[in-house]
Amino acid sequence: MKKDIHNREDIMLLVDTFYKNVALNKQIGPIFTDVAKVDWSHHLPKMYDFWESILFGKAIYKGNPMLTHFALNEQTPLQAEAFETWKNLFFQTVDDLFKGENANLIKQKAQSIADLMHFKINSPQSKIKIV
Ligand code: HEM
Repeated sequence: MKKDIHNREDIMLLVDTFYKNVALNKQIGPIFTDVAKVDWSHHLPKMYDFWESILFGKAIYKGNPMLTHFALNEQTPLQAEAFETWKNLFFQTVDDLFKGENANLIKQKAQSIADLMHFKINSPQSKIKIV
């Protein structure tokens, strides 16, 4: 039986699996591997901190994801399809590995952040760069 997301080890499994799926994805994989040329040894621990902060309220992530994605959008446009793919991969990875209250919560959080990010990047006012 699948268990819920309880601790950092669970988050690490989720994040590692998610980005393996992302890297293999034909649509958004190249944004990570070719455009941003992500250093996974740096990115993954940052994402453990990010999701631990979001899900368990631990203020360990220091950063501004909106600014990071505004900058990325200058290099390659992050459009609706890319956000849909990101969300589908995230939901699928959560559902493949976990089940429960926190699994549902992390999907809700991911959905709200992704939708807000998409809105801020693609809204007509995006030149103002509201962060
Ligand atoms: C179209 C969808 C997305 C794409 C293509 C994308 C791509 C990227 C890339 C390439 C980076 C790495 C930057 C680097 O290390 O050089 C990054 C960082 C990051 N992404 Fe995304 N991302 C997407 C959506 C999201 C969403 C929806 C979230 C949150 C729910 C998110 C959270 C983050 C965070 C927290 C970082 C680290 C920011 C920092 O502190 O530097 N991303 N993203």
